[in-house]
Amino acid sequence: MSLGLIPNPFMTSESRRESMAEQSAVELQHEVIPRLQEIQEKFGYIPQEAVEWLSSQLKVSSQEIYGVATFYNHFRFNPPGKHEIRVCLGTACHVGGGEKILDTLSERLGIQPGETTADERYSLERVACVGACALAPAVLLDDEVHGRMTQRSLKRLLDKVDRADKKAAKGSDE
Ligand code: FES
Repeated sequence: MSLGLIPNPFMTSESRRESMAEQSAVELQHEVIPRLQEIQEKFGYIPQEAVEWLSSQLKVSSQEIYGVATFYNHFRFNPPGKHEIRVCLGTACHVGGGEKILDTLSERLGIQPGETTADERYSLERVACVGACALAPAVLLDDEVHGRMTQRSLKRLLDKVDRADKKAAKGSDE
């Protein structure tokens, strides 16, 4: 039962402090999350300068903002690559081998989820259910769903993208 503004006499000063800390963490999340979403919509990611700007606006440290942002998988801190690969790790895809797909991609591209390759061609993300559970494990490549992924079909898919990019680059050189 809440006693409103009257301090709860059954709370120790330690639990009161913990409760206040929890409350301010929730308030910070409510302040920060919508603004981070706006920034990500505008830039496609959250630049460090934007975090510093937000930090001065809200009068909280950059670390606190990163603390909130990194808790949510959908915020990214690097510019997206030319091709965005999202690996579904919702329940069906997780059970169907999504982690292995993610590891294989990570190894082939040499990046971790949330990162972009040095040549800025690929970025890698993990996402929750993308609504194609019957096709688990699923991968989104540039927003197109590719289902029932295996090591082999994944390799074929990336090889195809590489070939198409090479062809396009050759065409633009001519
Ligand atoms: S869990 Fe991956 S599409 Fe639903």
